[in-house]
Amino acid sequence: MIQVKNVTKDFTIYKKDSGFKGAVKGLFVRKKEIIKAVNDISFEIKKGEIIGYIGANGAGKSTTIKMMTGVLTPSSGEITVSGLIPHENRIENAKHIGVVFGQRTQLWWDLPLEETFTILKEIYNVPDDAYKERLDYLVNLLDIQAFIKQPVRTLSLGQRMRADLAAAMLHSPDILYLDEPTIGLDVLVKEKIRFAIKDLNEKYKVTVILTTHDMSDIQELATRIMIIEKGVIIYDGSKEDINKRFGNNRMLELKIENLSETLLQEVSVMCHKKDKKSIVIHEDVVLRITFNQDRLAVADILGFVMSQCKVLDFKLRDQDIEDIAKRLYAGGIHEEVV
Ligand SMILES: Nc1ncnc2c1ncn2[C@@H]1O[C@H](COP(=O)(O)OP(=O)(O)O)[C@@H](O)[C@H]1O
Ligand SMILES: [Mg+2]
Repeated sequence: MIQVKNVTKDFTIYKKDSGFKGAVKGLFVRKKEIIKAVNDISFEIKKGEIIGYIGANGAGKSTTIKMMTGVLTPSSGEITVSGLIPHENRIENAKHIGVVFGQRTQLWWDLPLEETFTILKEIYNVPDDAYKERLDYLVNLLDIQAFIKQPVRTLSLGQRMRADLAAAMLHSPDILYLDEPTIGLDVLVKEKIRFAIKDLNEKYKVTVILTTHDMSDIQELATRIMIIEKGVIIYDGSKEDINKRFGNNRMLELKIENLSETLLQEVSVMCHKKDKKSIVIHEDVVLRITFNQDRLAVADILGFVMSQCKVLDFKLRDQDIEDIAKRLYAGGIHEEVV
């Protein structure tokens, strides 16, 4: 349904030299700099997939989406969406896609929401009966009835986001692009939006490409995850395999009677012998050890600690997407060599 092949997007920016001399020079010479916002990315997306597209600020997520929607032209490489080249067929392409940018609305600020919907119906040539059915479905799904007569500028952020999603889906597109759709929303609205995305996907097999900073969006919705870092896709796969790829880490939490500095030291030394990157920390009576299970066995840690002190309780879990995302947003995640 969507093919992206060796796509690169360069932005050329011009910088002036600083200082007086620079300012004078800047009138004549500007320093040219090329930013590779997206650097040789390739992937395919099948009908009905929900892609969670994640990466730090400036990684290239929005640029990718803008190229897929036809707003931006790739510097090199090929994109086809349902057989069309988006930037060459923007109008035709628009009939098959819905787009929501969380940061700005696509709605007319001064018009009542209902009128906005009517205008969109005309723009997209939706037949009367199909429109009525679709509108009913979306108004119900997103709980819009209460504010449908209000001008868009009077809506709360949560209401506006639901309205934006409804507007994007009115013409029954089979692809939905969502760029940070839950940014700044409270938990209840987030839940509504997620439920709506799920329903559109299940009932109408809508293909969804979603960028978000909210890992619970990803946990709940994504059937596949792509991670982009500095313009390069560094992961493309399932939620389940992501942990393996980024270190196969686990976290062991031990509740200990009389946790001492000495014990902390000893456990730390023992863990580092086998896994240099293991992290041993403590909070009150809880000892928390993050380690790579390919290097260090749970049984070894437990055995050691239990020979030194009394363990009251313990918990073991896999590093999850949340942990990985934290490392990602903290400034880079790189595959760890086993
Ligand atoms: N129109 C533009 N002109 C120049 N640079 C841009 C433009 N749009 C994006 N960039 C740069 O491209 C990189 C990727 O940006 P973007 O795709 O918006 O990242 P993300 O959505 O992941 O935060 C950033 O370094 C950003 O500053
Ligand atoms: Mg962005």
